[in-house]
Amino acid sequence: MKGIVLAGGSGSRLYPMTAAVTKQLLPIYDKPMIYYPVATLMLAGIRDILLISTPRDIERYVELFGDGSRWGLNISYAEQPRPNGIAEAFRIGRSFLAGGPSSLILGDNLFFGSGLPQRLSDAAALQHGAHIFACRVDDPERYGVIEFDAEQKPVSIIEKPRHAHSNWAVTGLYFYDGRASDIAADLRPSARGELEITDLNARYLKEGNLTVERLGRGFAWLDTGTPETLMAATQFVCALETRQGIKIACLEEIALAQGFIDADEFARQAAAAPVSAYGRYLKNLLGDLELDARPMPLRVVNGRQ
Ligand code: TTP
Repeated sequence: MKGIVLAGGSGSRLYPMTAAVTKQLLPIYDKPMIYYPVATLMLAGIRDILLISTPRDIERYVELFGDGSRWGLNISYAEQPRPNGIAEAFRIGRSFLAGGPSSLILGDNLFFGSGLPQRLSDAAALQHGAHIFACRVDDPERYGVIEFDAEQKPVSIIEKPRHAHSNWAVTGLYFYDGRASDIAADLRPSARGELEITDLNARYLKEGNLTVERLGRGFAWLDTGTPETLMAATQFVCALETRQGIKIACLEEIALAQGFIDADEFARQAAAAPVSAYGRYLKNLLGDLELDARPMPLRVVNGRQ
């Protein structure tokens, strides 16, 4: 499966932070926002990634990620001249996807939760239909909202409803079979002038080919489009990372765990990282790796490591 990260948009709600810097390069605590959605695709096992952004910003992403080979990824780039809607990603990404299945993630979405990698890799095995995730929110009017029937099957998805039928919002992570680009080609702009991802999902729903997986209270889904949510995401990541001494969305760590890079490549990355908390984290991980490679008798003394 291939992946698309949509990282354009105007970021108007974050003005003036976004006057000169694209939203998805603003920091969430200790790394650029875009690291989190890229990490999510990597956890789904996806290595071929198309990053879509504005003509103004695309070069900044190239500077950040290059061809992605440092993390065992293959990253290519495409421009979205205007923010014409999320579903436009499948028109822009048509030749990249070449009729194959895909996952789309929004560049300002952060997912975290125990068991998430398994759920993501299950979703990435999709061959037929579409699979989306829903989370409970307090302000469903801001999102695409799913209505379920008595058997908990989805019956409708409505974009930014005035009166929401449920509190289940569609998150910015979507999995589709090979037809997404064809369906997107057929969509017409909505009343607000955008190619709506909700319309694409509604097509799959109408055919009976949409599955919705609910992420319960063990999961965090944060979108970071306003000053308050940006701050909340930073506080969330900071609290977890400082308490546990682990990092969320450390691309080198995920690449190693997924087998996208080997230990030698990881060691090169750790050695090259500048002095920073992130760099120290990589060096500590490397130290643990080297310990793990030592023969057992040297490590275990009186049953303690
Ligand atoms: P939004 O938050 O809906 O829009 P935005 O980022 O332009 O911000 P604002 O509403 O404050 O002006 O977009 C969600 C994500 O999708 C975000 O990462 C930007 C991206 N996006 C695009 O790249 N192209 C688009 O056409 C749209 C609508 C969104």
